[in-house]
Formats: sequence, C-alpha cells, structure tokens
Amino acid sequence: MCGIVCYVGEREAKGILLEGLKRLEYRGYDSAGVAIQNGSGVHFERAVGRIADLERKIGTRPLDGTAGIAHTRWATHGEPSEANAHPHRDRDGNVFVIHNGIIENYRALKKKLEGRGVSFRSETDTEVIAHLVALHFEGDLCEAVRKTMLQLEGTFGIAVIHRQVPGKIVVARRGSPLIIGIGENCHLAASDVSAMVRHTNKVVHLLDNELAVLSSDEFSISTVQATPIERVTETVDWQADDAELNGFPHFMLKEIFEQPETVRNAIRGRLDYSEGIPRLGGIAPVWEGLKQCRHLVIVGCGTSYYAGFVGRYIFEKLTDIDVTVELASEFRYRRINFAPNTFVLALSQSGETADTLAAIREARRKGASLMGVVNVVGSSIAREAGAGVYNHAGPEIGVASTKIFTSQLTIMSLLALLLGRHHSLSLTEGIEAIRAVDALPGQISRVLSLAHAIEAMAEKYHLKSNWLFLGRKYNYPIAMEGALKLKEISYIHAEGYAAGEMKHGPIALVNPDMPTVAIAPQDSVYEKMVSNIQEIKSRRGPVIALVTEGDEEIREIADDVIEIPRTLEFLYPILSVIPLQLLAYYCAKFLHRDIDKPRNLAKSVTVE
Ligand code: M6R
Repeated sequence: MCGIVCYVGEREAKGILLEGLKRLEYRGYDSAGVAIQNGSGVHFERAVGRIADLERKIGTRPLDGTAGIAHTRWATHGEPSEANAHPHRDRDGNVFVIHNGIIENYRALKKKLEGRGVSFRSETDTEVIAHLVALHFEGDLCEAVRKTMLQLEGTFGIAVIHRQVPGKIVVARRGSPLIIGIGENCHLAASDVSAMVRHTNKVVHLLDNELAVLSSDEFSISTVQATPIERVTETVDWQADDAELNGFPHFMLKEIFEQPETVRNAIRGRLDYSEGIPRLGGIAPVWEGLKQCRHLVIVGCGTSYYAGFVGRYIFEKLTDIDVTVELASEFRYRRINFAPNTFVLALSQSGETADTLAAIREARRKGASLMGVVNVVGSSIAREAGAGVYNHAGPEIGVASTKIFTSQLTIMSLLALLLGRHHSLSLTEGIEAIRAVDALPGQISRVLSLAHAIEAMAEKYHLKSNWLFLGRKYNYPIAMEGALKLKEISYIHAEGYAAGEMKHGPIALVNPDMPTVAIAPQDSVYEKMVSNIQEIKSRRGPVIALVTEGDEEIREIADDVIEIPRTLEFLYPILSVIPLQLLAYYCAKFLHRDIDKPRNLAKSVTVE
C-alpha cells in the first residue's frame, strides 16, 4: 500500500528520499512523488509507474534542498495518474502533503472547501488536507496540522511541509503507521522502518492522534490536544543488509532460503530441555490469565490466517483448550460471545493489517484477552495486543509471505507446548517435542537442497493453468497456503482443498491437464492420502506428491515426488510448506512474472 518517507537534515534530501522510496517499493504502488524545500521555495515531481519512472522524470532537474517528503501511492480514490499522485498542494502552492490511509469524510470537506472558492486538481481524498492546512495556517505549521486533524475522519499517516516554514516537517498519525528515525544531524520519518535502516536504527513510534515536528537537530511530539509527549527511543535490530538482495534474484527466494535462520531465531534461547518446556518472555504480562485460558480464537489474514489454521490443530493436539480460527476480515460480521478465559491470538507479519487490527480491537471491546505473534517490532498490532511473541525474522520484503509463515508455526508450536506442559503433557512428551523443534533448522536446510529438483518440476508443469492442492489435518491449511502462493505470484489458478472433500466436488475437475499437489507425509492420515492419490491417478490426473523421506509406496504411483525429513506430526507443516513456496516461485519465474511485486497486490494491507 502507500508508503511515506521524509528527511530533514544537512544533506541533500533527493537521493535519500528516492532511495527510501525504493525500499518501500515492495509494499505495492502505482505512482510516486517527491517535494523538496529549498529556501522559500518547494520543488516537486510526480510520475505514474515505478520509482525509476520518477527518477527519469526528475532527470537532471536540480530538486536541491535538505528537507523533503516522498510518497508511493496505491490508488484508492481516483485512478493511478500524475494528477492523483502525491504530494498534493493547496491553491497557492504553499502546503505540500503526502498521505497514507483514507479520509472518510473527504466528500463533505471538499464540498465545504469548494463553497469557499477552493478548486481541486485531483480526485483524491488527500487533497482536502492540503487545502485545510493552508486555511488554518497563521505562521505555525504544527498548529495548522493540529486543527486540520480535528476535522478529519478516517485513517491517516501524513507528512506536511510549507514553503514559508523552511527546515521543518510536520508528521501526524491516526491509524496508519508512522515512525520517526533519529539520525546524525538529521531526522527521518517513514511508514515502514525499512525505508530508514540505511540511515539509523534509532526510532520513535508515533501513536494515534499524535503529531510531531521534525527539524535537523530536534523533534517534538504532542497529541492532537496539544499535550507534549516524551517517548523513549527504541533500537531496531534490522540491518541495512536485511533489505538487500545479497545475490539472490528476488527477495522471495532470498526469504525462502533464510528459513533455517528465521526458524532458529524463533527458538533461540527459548528451549529448556531439562523441563521439556519453552520459555517465552513476551507473554509474561498475560501469563497468569493464559494459564487459565480455556478458549483460544486465532485471527489473521491471508498467509497469517493459514498459519492460524495450522495453529488450531497444534493447540488442539498439545493443550486442552478449545480453539477456533477466524479470518480477521470476516471477524466484524461474526456475533461471537466470548466465554470467560478467552484469549484472542493475532498473527501478522507487518503488524499493520487493518482487518487484523480491527479484529483485536473488537475482541478487546467484548472482553477477550489479547496476544500477538508479530514480526514488526512496535507495530500497531504488537502495541494493541500488549503481549505476545516477536518473530525476529528481519524484514519480509517479497509480497508473498514465506519466512514469516514458518516462523509463526514455530512460535505457535512453542506456545502450545508451553501451555500443554501446564495442562496434561508429560515431561517425556515435552522433551521429545523440544528435540524435534530444535532439529527443524537443519531439516529445513535439507528441504532447501531440493530447490533444483523442484525447479525442474516447475519447468514441467508451469504452463498448466489449473492446479489442485490437497492435504488433510495439519496439511489441509498447507494445501490452501500452497495454492495461495501459486496464484498470487504466478497468476495460475489454484485451489487448496481438504483431501476428504475431493469426492464432494473437486474430483470432477481432475483430468490429464490439471496437476494435483498431494501433501502426504507419513502421519496419522497417510493411508487416506494414498487413497486420494490413487483416485486421481485412476482418472489420469498428474500428481506431485510431498512425502516423507524413504516413502516407496507413493513413489510408485505419483508422477513426481518431493521428500521431506521425518518429524513429529504437528511439525510437518513447517517442512511441507517449503517445497510449495519453491514450486510457486519457480513457476512464476518460468512465466516471467514480477515475483516480488505481483500485480494488484500490496505487502501490507492497511485499509479494510
Ligand atoms: O502482515 P500480515 O501477516 O498481517 O499480512 C496478511 C496478508 O495480507 C498476507 O499474508 C498476504 O496474504 C500475503 N500476500 C500472502 O503471501
């Protein structure tokens, strides 16, 4: 979705802003723009398309200046066009604004402004902000933004500069992330830390209904009611290198290959062999309540939802808790009556997914306790949840979520094991599980060593336009996740199904032109999966089977076989999803898709 990056300091802003925008490219966008202050003037440029198009347009134009704001837009109000790209300005070209989010009352505000003779240049909701700030401006930009905020309904992260206020940027937030970066003789602000990591790892999070004034040597935060705020500076553990390709052709492939390390990060320092119990410091604030937890509701969207779906089986296996999993985007339509001792667990890579955020707010309103498994430290969901476990997986840049999925599954396994050991799991079972979790990074490396074989399968099948993914129990959600991966980056139509449902409909699709990926490790539903594979083969459907190492039975019937190492049944999904990520990646590669930035998709879905 839209991205914001701002810089004020002693260096030329242009290069820093354009480089920051490139780091936000992965979020998905259709146009971009930049405005830079120079003395008492502001120069700006906007372009439809990629940052490279904006750079080309800027060409050798000086765009000099040491304070500026820049934006990538993902169209919501008005088509992708230069006129609709940000920054937007007021009538006299004094105020320049960039905005993430949606101003819900913009029509009413626009009407009022038009009544006062203001004419609009764009179809966006954002433009009202520029005109309102200009109307309220009496020499104090912060005050003008504050008064404007009081008139806005909806969500926003905004950055504003004014021609007559050199060397100052005002940023404000309600519902859309904004982070201030503290650099050497400079300050930055961005909607996403990855836009700033090259310049600083010291950050301060702006919270809802707060605004901040940035200059090269200081910044101050206050609320919309003008109460000054002191906030501690946080250090992010992401390195500039984390946001580089480091020799990989795509971030998605790099992130798939990072999984031995990201799973290791998820378990590092958390396994206690002697007690057969994991240690998870982040849940300390809710631990007393969690021990009494009888009902768990897991919420998430997309891949995080599928992780939650696997999580349901894992919690059911290891604990005595009733578990449901809900799509966060559907949560607001449900009439859920939370029983006492209910916890809601939110899963989110970005920590900014609007539907997931809305779901946990709704759950809290109805009396549930909250926890999160989130990757981005200090993100909105992490803050709102108040307790939980961070993935510590570094930035995930490819739009297709990969490394976070396996990290989420690992963390949920630890959480379930921890609770299970306080319920009925024995010490022996605890130690056995800890040992199996500890072996995962090495086993993932073994799965990754199959990349070339999987690439060859993708070469064989990538022109097939319909695929079926089948799995049972723990691997049913993996079938859905495998299908999601394939469709989102290769644009091949794929369905993920519970294998037991095949005879209730999808089997009608089976023919020699439709590959089925059958996820069939040697677990408690193995024999049933073998029967499903036979049913497909007897209808001449090609089968790619994912099996446990050494499986001879399925090798005899399937067309292609991918072997994964043996593990405990509830941990198989952490291994079985990886070949599916690779299969999707290589199909997309053979089809020449824009793998890290698939069409119409955004990395972080910050509007409902
Ligand atoms: O940041 P989140 O985990 O909350 O994001 C949820 C979904 O938007 C995300 O998983 C999406 O489905 C990905 N494109 C899947 O690869």
